[in-house]
Amino acid sequence: MHHFNYRNGELFCEDVPVKAVVEASGTPCYLYSHATLTRHFQEFSNAFQGMDRLVCYSAKANTNLAILRLFEKMGGGLDIVSGGELYRGLAAGFSAECIVYSGVGKMVDEIDFALEEGILMFNVESIEELKLLNERAKTLGKTAPVALRVNPDVDPKTHPYISTGLNKNKFGIDTEGAMEGYRLAQTLSNIRVRGIDCHIGSQITESTPFKDALKSLVGLVRKLKDMGILLEHIDVGGGLGIIYDDESPPLPVEYARAIVGALKGTSLKLILEPGRVIVGNAGTLITRVLYRKKGKAKEFVIVDAAMNDLIRPSLYHAYHAVWPVVRTRRKKIRADVVGPICESGDFLAEDREMTDAKKGELLAVMSAGAYGFSMASNYCSRPRVAEVMVKGDRFHIVRARETYEDLIRGESIPAFIGAQ
Ligand code: LLP
Repeated sequence: MHHFNYRNGELFCEDVPVKAVVEASGTPCYLYSHATLTRHFQEFSNAFQGMDRLVCYSAKANTNLAILRLFEKMGGGLDIVSGGELYRGLAAGFSAECIVYSGVGKMVDEIDFALEEGILMFNVESIEELKLLNERAKTLGKTAPVALRVNPDVDPKTHPYISTGLNKNKFGIDTEGAMEGYRLAQTLSNIRVRGIDCHIGSQITESTPFKDALKSLVGLVRKLKDMGILLEHIDVGGGLGIIYDDESPPLPVEYARAIVGALKGTSLKLILEPGRVIVGNAGTLITRVLYRKKGKAKEFVIVDAAMNDLIRPSLYHAYHAVWPVVRTRRKKIRADVVGPICESGDFLAEDREMTDAKKGELLAVMSAGAYGFSMASNYCSRPRVAEVMVKGDRFHIVRARETYEDLIRGESIPAFIGAQ
């Protein structure tokens, strides 16, 4: 469910015609619906009504300050994986006590930053990290609140690049290792054990992997209790999938039923880290057709957005629907939608039955709110595009399009090469 709809054949975001946004911001641009963002956050959080919970939005899905601020105002916490995301979270107004920090490679300066700010919990992914955390906390005169991220060896049945809960993945600590880790944590002076954590993958479209993972975690919680180690929080990660094409992921209420059912009998405070399910369908990437070209084997719709703006199709062969901004009665075509970048892997859609969009016309690449702009790069020295948020009949450019000056900011030519 989202708020991108046609009115008299023309695409609107809420009450704003997409064309009006393009007049102000140019193309390509990301376009976000405030109503969809709000609705998805509420729907997700309400699904867990009655539970003691903190919905820590997973910043990596979309780190725009306006989006972070919106979820902060709605009572959310934040899931971060870097010092940069911590910085953004604080800049958006989150209090550190609502922030959980995951990641296999936390660096000393990032750990120190998070300790100084006093975050809710470090989701620790190795014994070496646990020891380093203890050392850094001692040096800074702090106590580090931790959960161990458990790798339950569950197959989330998603793209291999985004499955994280299998033994062969780099994430978390296996169940036996975690028991050892908790025992060790008890002996470390500047560590306070607060919880347990897992995150098994992303774009998961069934409930069973979540249930299986939690079963394993709850088993551990019980064993720890028998050993006298009492936890306060259980962080179940993110991962709930969305509809890009013809998937049928569980609804948030169904997902919640699975989670809550698996947690029966424990009295832990629930932490959730949803990303995609909140922002994915709340955003589109608007692009303009530059050229049409018919090759011997294929037809191409060449647009001004590229893999540097939205890498998901190139990286995961991910499907994103492509809609015309103005509907026509023309016969459909079969084509590749490609960008200007000098790689054959630069496509937004492959072999797609689609609208017969002509030079100069606008297209909307749908479901681009998650892992769209946040994975964008400056490859081929392409300035990153503008981001715009719509609310009702108003819109605001929440990130300006980068300029050529932005592209070379911070670079300098050394004297041994010679000034210009
Ligand atoms: N928590 C942790 C520790 C994570 O690593 C992730 C995502 C999430 C929460 C949020 O997961 P979500 O609810 O969004 O599925 N770039 C890929 C997705 C990578 C996900 C990485 N971790 C994509 O475009 O599909």
